[in-house]
Amino acid sequence: MSHTPSPGRYADMKYVRCGNSGLRLPLVSLGLWHNFGKVDPFWRATNIILKAFDSGITHFDLANNYGPPPGSAETNLGRIIKSELYAHRDELIISTKAGYLMWPGPYGDRGSRKYLIASLDQSLMRMGLDYVDIFYSHRFDPDTPLEETMDALASSVKSGKALYAGISNYPPEETEMAAGILSDLGCPCLIHQEKFSLLRPAANKGLGRVLTKNGIGCIAFSPLAQGILTDRYLNGIPEDSRAAKEHGFLKKEEISEEVLNKVRALSEIASGWGMDISDLALNWVRSHDFITSVLIGVSTPEQLDANLRIIKLDPFTAGQMEKINSVMRSTNN
Ligand SMILES: NC(=O)c1ccc[n+]([C@@H]2O[C@H](COP(=O)([O-])OP(=O)(O)OC[C@H]3O[C@@H](n4cnc5c(N)ncnc54)[C@H](OP(=O)(O)O)[C@@H]3O)[C@@H](O)[C@H]2O)c1
Repeated sequence: MSHTPSPGRYADMKYVRCGNSGLRLPLVSLGLWHNFGKVDPFWRATNIILKAFDSGITHFDLANNYGPPPGSAETNLGRIIKSELYAHRDELIISTKAGYLMWPGPYGDRGSRKYLIASLDQSLMRMGLDYVDIFYSHRFDPDTPLEETMDALASSVKSGKALYAGISNYPPEETEMAAGILSDLGCPCLIHQEKFSLLRPAANKGLGRVLTKNGIGCIAFSPLAQGILTDRYLNGIPEDSRAAKEHGFLKKEEISEEVLNKVRALSEIASGWGMDISDLALNWVRSHDFITSVLIGVSTPEQLDANLRIIKLDPFTAGQMEKINSVMRSTNN
């Protein structure tokens, strides 16, 4: 029997207009990069997705290569939608991407029209969907004319296989150019997906300005720096953590004493404000004007509950942001 969603699922979530578009995204979106592949327990993946949906998370983010093995996160989400949420497809925003290595040979990687169009067809097949809501170019490819990559996005939208076009990991200058090309093609760039956290604050510099100027939304990925900006690693590397998993993208070397000192300093501020480090890290990201949605990952329903606490928080004041930023600056020395 398919899932009966909570009738109150839209009561608490905040929905934020994505750039100049009419699409509103939840303040918290859920990504399926880790914990939803064939290697992960399917029952737990299902529980997390259904809990997220019941909490007002309408947006689930994928890419062709999420797993492992690559593609299996899309297959799993497709199974969950088919068995539990099919009646609610119109309440869901499903995104996928192409840009990194997916299949052997010269047509399974980067930014060519050949790759993007074939990859979108494969993603739709794996998920059992007629269309995705957002199709992204996953990274800028200097060896493909930008016009070709953008035309592949625009024709995906015009063919009805995607509703909106997005770009991810594009530097500010290339973002501005991509936005111009897409606009000329009659397919405005909806959204940019960028790595943005207290440990990776670069988007704050040039990208945010470009996005605001061009009316493009921004969804921040890895806002918890893959779990470092929580209490997860303060006492070593837990066996069930991403850093301990062979297929995890978080490498143990990234959790240096220097980084942990920053996390401890943030933890002190957070506890002074009655928060956890993760609350502080997520709320710092959402407190930037150019941010539409905070794109989290979780390995348990409990982590999801914890991360949803930011919905109840106000954005930080300029004074609070300065306090956090000054701690980050001072621990850089
Ligand atoms: N466009 C791109 O190139 C790109 C690249 C990367 C990611 N993304 C997208 O961004 C999404 C999120 O990335 P991410 O998973 O790195 O995000 P993240 O939220 O920074 O990290 C998620 C990990 O942090 C830990 N965690 C989360 N909440 C926690 C809590 N309350 N307390 C303790 N630990 C907690 C969990 O680690 P454990 O597993 O150890 O429990 C979880 O798997 C991805 O799924 C994907 O959709 C996009």
